Amino acid sequence: MIDDRLAAHLAHHENQARWTEALRAHVYRQIAIGTRRRALDVGCGGGWLVAELAGKVREAAVGCDIDPAMIQASREKFPQLEFVASDPARLPFADGSFDLVVCHFTLLWAADPVALLAEMKRVAAAGGAIAALAEPDWGGYLEWPDLGLRDLISAALAAEGADPTAGRKLVDWFGRAGLRAQVGVTGGPWLADEAGLDAAWAHHRLTLAGFVDEKKLRRLEALDRRAFREERRLAHLPLCWAVAR
Ligand SMILES: C[S@@+](CC[C@H](N)C(=O)[O-])C[C@H]1O[C@@H](n2cnc3c(N)ncnc32)[C@H](O)[C@@H]1O
Repeated sequence: MIDDRLAAHLAHHENQARWTEALRAHVYRQIAIGTRRRALDVGCGGGWLVAELAGKVREAAVGCDIDPAMIQASREKFPQLEFVASDPARLPFADGSFDLVVCHFTLLWAADPVALLAEMKRVAAAGGAIAALAEPDWGGYLEWPDLGLRDLISAALAAEGADPTAGRKLVDWFGRAGLRAQVGVTGGPWLADEAGLDAAWAHHRLTLAGFVDEKKLRRLEALDRRAFREERRLAHLPLCWAVAR
């Protein structure tokens, strides 16, 4: 049974996937995804990326997550795919089980991202690829008009246990896990369409709920939407990727 908050998170994850379409396509080309056989998505959330990977690799894609509610939701939505409950300290797979191991918006939430990357390395076969497809860096968020969202969202994420500046740390984290990474930074479109604006506010509302009072949230959203209608709005969240082979 999926409660309202989980449903909102799952809907947000699918919206968020739109922000990173171009980024994923770029990384998929680099790792020649069509030549890969078995893929693992670490921190798979609602499973949408596992479904995407299953359509691209030769044999199978598997998802794992430490949150049992996410695993249950993934299994309900994609009963034909494999989802495995994971442990923060150890991925539940034998060494060298996959020739592609990815994550997407996971490292920022990992209690120990270097240890998680070391586990991703362990379950990757020799010659396999390990990729962080997208990790955000809210410290580099650009916005106009200035609503103060960079600081508000960074503080709210940090209070929830996430690292809001994960993006800039990818080279360091990969290196400390013994992985030599190629990295890059990019973003979605700087000017959102209406659906993008709705997705952004679905995200901000989820992240800031309980952190910023509803009256202030409504005021910020109204200012942002007015700037959008008047064609004055710009918002850009840097999204970083890293690939090790
Ligand atoms: C923001 S969600 C992203 C979900 C999905 N990757 C997506 O992009 O839609 C982060 C997910 O990572 C999971 N997670 C955090 N630390 C993890 C770990 N050490 N191992 C596996 N999953 C983890 C969380 O439970 C959560 O479902």
